[in-house]
Amino acid sequence: RTVYVNGDYLPEDQATVSVFDRGFLMADGVYEVVSVLDGRLLDFAGHMARLQRSLDELAMANPLSENDYLDAHRALVARNGITDGLVYLQVTRGNPGDRDFAYPPEGTRPTVVMFTQSKPGLADQPAAKTGWRIVSVEDLRWGRRDIKTVQLLFPSMAKMEAKARGVDDAWLVEEGKVTEGTSNNAYIVKGGRIITRDLSHDILHGITRAAVLRFAREAQMQVEERSFTIDEAQAADEAFVTSASAFVMPVVEIDGQPVGAGTVGPVAARLREIYLEESR
Ligand code: PDD
Repeated sequence: RTVYVNGDYLPEDQATVSVFDRGFLMADGVYEVVSVLDGRLLDFAGHMARLQRSLDELAMANPLSENDYLDAHRALVARNGITDGLVYLQVTRGNPGDRDFAYPPEGTRPTVVMFTQSKPGLADQPAAKTGWRIVSVEDLRWGRRDIKTVQLLFPSMAKMEAKARGVDDAWLVEEGKVTEGTSNNAYIVKGGRIITRDLSHDILHGITRAAVLRFAREAQMQVEERSFTIDEAQAADEAFVTSASAFVMPVVEIDGQPVGAGTVGPVAARLREIYLEESR
C-alpha cells in the first residue's frame, strides 16, 4: 500500500514520523475519514470544511489547500486501486524538537499523513440488513467533542466494553442523555419523527448527520434536534446511527431491550437508501 506523508507517496513500510511529533506524544492532532464508493469520494467538501474548523479551534495552521487534499485523496485511491473503502487523513502539530506542553513556535511544520483502507462491498454491509445491538456506557470523554481530535482512547475503551458484552457498539450517556456512539451520531424515531441530539461542544458535528437530516427534510420527514434518554430510545419505534463509514446503520437492540419490533425499521432503511443514492 502507498501512503502519503508530508507531500511524499511512499510504500507504507518506508513512511515514518518523528517520535517527538505532538500527535504521538500529546494526541495533538485532528483527522477526517472520507468514504470511497465506486472510486468516488463522498461528501469531500464537508469533510474539508470540518477539518478547517477543527484546526482553527486548535490554532493550528492548515498546511495544505483543499485542492492539495483532493489531489492527494485521488492519487491514493488510484495508486491503491480502491473501489470501495476509505481515505484517512491526519494533521498533527508536528515535531517541535522536544516535549513541551506549550505549542511550538509558529513555522513548525505540521505533519500530514494520509492512507487508504480497502473495504470491498462497503455499501452492502450485511449488518445493515440485521442492524446493530448496542449497550450504553457513561461518556467520560473531554468537553470538546466537536473538534475531531485523534484523542480516541475513551471511544476505544467503550468499543471494547461493547465487544466484551457481545454487541456491536456503545452509545455514550452523559447526565442521563445520549451524546453519540463511539464513532457515530445517534438517532431515534418515534411516531415518524427523527430525533437526534442538537449540535454543541458535546458531540461531533457529523458530516453524514448533516446530509441525512437534509435528505430527511427534503423528503418531508419531521426532524427534532434534541437530546434523549436510553429509556426513551428503548421505547422508540426505531433507532440508528450515522457515520462516514457506516452510512446509516439501524440499531435494533439497546441494553438487551429490542427497539420497536427488534428488526430494521422502515425509516432507517429508507434513509440509508436515500443517502447511498444521493451520494453516488
Ligand atoms: N467517526 N461522532 C463521532 C464521535 C465520530 O467519531 C464520528 C466519525 C461521527 C460521525 O461523523 P461523520 O458522519 O462525519 O463520519 C460522530 C469516524 C468515521 C471514525 O472515527 O472512523
